[in-house]
Amino acid sequence: MREVLLDEFKKVYGDNDGVRTYFAPGRVNMIGEHTDYNGGHVFPCALTIGTYAAVRKNKDKLLRFYSMNFESLGIINVSLGNLKYDEKDEWTNYPKGVIWALEEKGYKVEEGVDILYFGNIPNGSGLSSSASIEVLTGYIINDLFDFGIDLVSIALLSQKAENDFVGVNSGIMDQFAIAMGKKDHAIFLDTSDLSYEYAPLKLKDAKIVIAASNKKRRLADSKYNERRSECETALRDLKEVVDIKSLGDLTIEEFEEYKHHIKDDIHRQRAKHAVYENQRTIKAVRELKNNNISEFGKLMNESHVSLRDDYEVTGIELDTLVEAAWKQEGVIGSRMTGAGFGGCTVSIVKEDKIDAFIEKVGQEYKDKIGYAADFYVVDIGDGPKEI
Ligand code: GLA
Repeated sequence: MREVLLDEFKKVYGDNDGVRTYFAPGRVNMIGEHTDYNGGHVFPCALTIGTYAAVRKNKDKLLRFYSMNFESLGIINVSLGNLKYDEKDEWTNYPKGVIWALEEKGYKVEEGVDILYFGNIPNGSGLSSSASIEVLTGYIINDLFDFGIDLVSIALLSQKAENDFVGVNSGIMDQFAIAMGKKDHAIFLDTSDLSYEYAPLKLKDAKIVIAASNKKRRLADSKYNERRSECETALRDLKEVVDIKSLGDLTIEEFEEYKHHIKDDIHRQRAKHAVYENQRTIKAVRELKNNNISEFGKLMNESHVSLRDDYEVTGIELDTLVEAAWKQEGVIGSRMTGAGFGGCTVSIVKEDKIDAFIEKVGQEYKDKIGYAADFYVVDIGDGPKEI
């Protein structure tokens, strides 16, 4: 890959003297969905697919961005003194946002960079291609300018870029999973205080299969922010009667005891998902540690039902993929993953049944939805690195 990046860099920027190359992964969340902005637990892992970059400093106080995925856009130039969100700058708003966030925190980027990106995460699939670009950019700039920033802070800076520059009110899960990824491990993260633990994903004779629905997710951001505020309103109602900081502080019993104080039925339903999903995630990790993979799979299935019925973020495409998956032989668990409203599903499937799984689920999806899904058998990889 390094050779490909260097060749391409030379074509785009004239020569490749002194160019360094880097990689950051994408992520998939195994369980713990829509809990990260509710002070709950998540259980994501980094993938071996992700985003690559070739980069060097320039003397022009100019950021020059180029993506092999969007060749027709050519080089996009941004001057260092002028880091503002601009729709016409397209995907470069993500790396720009990270450099903006660095400067907000007092890290002055005094020289420009020429940078070329290439991503092999399927576009818009919900495997966090944008968080991958953000964390990669933070990692590179930190390295080139010797800022000495730790990985958790790079994740937080990247989240700040997403929230305050791009304007999507996302939680910390994606950036954290990417910055802190570890081969063959998922990260059990408590989003209330960012304490975390690595848990080996020992799947024995099974593998992780991702199915991308290929549904375009135009509404995703607005609906995402809507769910977030529904949970915040439910929390406000509960705080009048019980001393909690977030929905993640509640056990299921406590929620059942106090839930009637949530005034709106829909808000109560959303809060129910947040509380139950958090407890389900804690339980799932315990089952995994005890090598009880089939129980882990059942909890994945329950997670999907809750996201479908209580949180209402699935939609016909994701439901079709998951419900078809549940019927197949060798499927240990299957659910939507990420924000929802499109994007993809994650399934744990016995290795010798994967071909049949892809064929049958793929056929059922095409028959019902009218276009094809894409399937990826993925491996769990490390966080960002120089290559
Ligand atoms: C998106 C957000 C994450 C998280 C998930 C849902 O991926 O970026 O912060 O909220 O949705 O679990």
